Amino acid sequence: MDNHNIHKGIETMNQSKVKLYYKNTVAGVIGSEHGITNKQLKDLAKKTEPLISKLNNERREGITPYRDLPFKKETVQQVKKLVAEVKDVCENLVVLGIGGSALGNIALQTALNPYMYNLDDGQRTGSRLFVFDNVDPAQFKKFLDWIDDKLDKTIFNVISKSGRTAETAAQLMIIHKIISEKFDSGGLRDHIIATTDSKEGILRQFASEVNLRTLEVPDGVGGRFSVLSAVGLFSAAMCGIDIDSLLAGARDMDEKVSRTDFHENPAAINAAINYHFYNHSKKNSVIMPYCYALKDMADWYRQLWAESLGKKMDLNGSEVWIGPTPIKALGVTDQHSQVQLYREGPNDKLFTFLEVKDFNSDIKIGPPPDCAPELGFLAGKQLSELFNDEKKATEYALLESKRPCLTVLFDEVNAYTVGQFIYLFEVTTSLTGALFNINPYDQPAVELGKEATFALMGKDGYEDLTKEIRSKTKIDEDYLV
Ligand code: PA5
Repeated sequence: MDNHNIHKGIETMNQSKVKLYYKNTVAGVIGSEHGITNKQLKDLAKKTEPLISKLNNERREGITPYRDLPFKKETVQQVKKLVAEVKDVCENLVVLGIGGSALGNIALQTALNPYMYNLDDGQRTGSRLFVFDNVDPAQFKKFLDWIDDKLDKTIFNVISKSGRTAETAAQLMIIHKIISEKFDSGGLRDHIIATTDSKEGILRQFASEVNLRTLEVPDGVGGRFSVLSAVGLFSAAMCGIDIDSLLAGARDMDEKVSRTDFHENPAAINAAINYHFYNHSKKNSVIMPYCYALKDMADWYRQLWAESLGKKMDLNGSEVWIGPTPIKALGVTDQHSQVQLYREGPNDKLFTFLEVKDFNSDIKIGPPPDCAPELGFLAGKQLSELFNDEKKATEYALLESKRPCLTVLFDEVNAYTVGQFIYLFEVTTSLTGALFNINPYDQPAVELGKEATFALMGKDGYEDLTKEIRSKTKIDEDYLV
């Protein structure tokens, strides 16, 4: 590409947008029993507008540092510097992390690199990427066997904000042993990069002790809000993703989601609609991309939504046991798996489709076989037309069953629009949390499971908990059939 075209490419990218379409949630479309009436929308605007200002103030006071990630030039510089240092020697980048320390990395890779990226060197613009967010021994062992003779060209990016997560710690200890045995004393520095808290935690201590290269999880940014920090940016940049455009997209969305006029603010409308339907017997929230590249964004969203909004206590200290259940589906695949339930099962769901106008590549459907002239209606059409018509067809069918539907419309899927989408949903989550009057930034309920794992694995100081868990989880043969 010459300079002119590169410039043109970036400009086109910066014009492509992500927009929220909400007409198919209103009473005028699905009736007043299930849809939002004009009066309800007015009341929602009244309730939400002061919360937008509250969030804007909190952001200015530094309470929500994730809001400033798209503006952190020094992070981008650090990431790019490290990428420049290692990219020529790193054919395989292996991310070890879990939850917010992995889901964003996976989502960016699926969204912004080709389907065959890891397999086809011709399509690869950087390292291959493998993300391990599990401790399944069969999966990890097979991978380590495969990578064994490629370790000299492999870097492990261990990501853990707390540095104490058992799964990531176990993975680190496994590869620490392998690398220590295989390479001389500089091996650990050459083959492990740690992304963790700037000062605290075991991973930070370990990195200092063995002189690892490090990146930071910024203070006050929880895992699920960290994809636009070094957590997500490093693996993305290593795989050739344009992180400048990603952050530019998020900055573009920041302007929109900071608007204090409810009707001009897509995060406010998204949050208010989700809040409304949760309070009107639609406690489940289905996200359904009609785009394979966006399928892992649904996983990222599920964590963001579930850990942020599923809360027992509200900010006044009252028990509320609140939180919409996020459900992922994929168009068109799940039309043949879930839509029967979605239409004829309980009317307890709000649907959010992700629709893409321009796929940037297309395939024309060939002529029908002689024996099947009835397939002629498909012949000569583009596959994108079938894909997007199926989205419309499913939406229409759901509307006929009076199910509320939102659509997030992508002009196209590129780093710029993905940045917009991520930021839109992060701020939507903050605003929905504010509407529910809960704290969306903690996850106290996840802790007990973590503590129980420590106990069962024999960590000092957990002896009483170990006994209690063993007695409660012991198999009772009377109930075993
Ligand atoms: O969003 C979160 O805070 C969690 O999902 C964490 O990302 C996850 O538990 C992993 O924690 P850590 O990065 O401390 O290893």
